[in-house]
Amino acid sequence: MSPSFLFFTLFLIKEMSSSSSANSFEDGKYKTDLLTVGLSSCCWKKPSSSPTPQSPPKRLLVATPVEEGEYPVVMLLHGYLLYNSFYSQLMLHVSSHGFIVIAPQLYSIAGPDTMDEIKSTAEIIDWLSVGLNHFLPPQVTPNLSKFALSGHSRGGKTAFALALKKFGYSSDLKISALIGIDVGTVFWTNGYGQYSGEFFEQFDCRNDRIVES
Ligand SMILES: *[C@@H]1O[C@H](CO)[C@@H](O)[C@H](O)[C@H]1NC(C)=O
Repeated sequence: MSPSFLFFTLFLIKEMSSSSSANSFEDGKYKTDLLTVGLSSCCWKKPSSSPTPQSPPKRLLVATPVEEGEYPVVMLLHGYLLYNSFYSQLMLHVSSHGFIVIAPQLYSIAGPDTMDEIKSTAEIIDWLSVGLNHFLPPQVTPNLSKFALSGHSRGGKTAFALALKKFGYSSDLKISALIGIDVGTVFWTNGYGQYSGEFFEQFDCRNDRIVES
């Protein structure tokens, strides 16, 4: 695992997990499962009152603990031209420490413009409150008061743009943690390769590059 992904795991376990003493290098205590959610797949928990729950705006890969419980939710936005399935091992690892990890497939081919991804991500985050619970195993409940947004590479740009409410898109859900994994430094430096503090001031956040250097 690259240092950036290790940091991602370490940060989540330290800051958001109930078992903060856990060793992030090793798998956690929870058994996990990997699910595909969206488009034609349907759900474990059909509400009796309403018809089939609304599918997410994009297909999602979801790693979840299978034991009964309420778990914090992490969204991981994939890097440029990457598939969410490439992260499945990492997602299962993080999930074994007691997280529901959600990776949407935002696009397969894309140009330089990230507006569509930002918009889709906002829609998916809004969907979490109404839809996610129906697609998880019955004994598993998402704790959306603990929600982390993270992105790898280009996905980090989308994550930060959304969290900072750039370009008019935002989501109603409160983001408790924002994590960039190997996000291009251009995006958050002042143009001279230096860390630009004001970019981060609005958040209690850290970035792996700062920790590494
Ligand atoms: C859900 O998250 C909130 C906010 O961190 C926390 O206070 C609450 O205890 C959590 N619920 C459970 C069941 O862990």
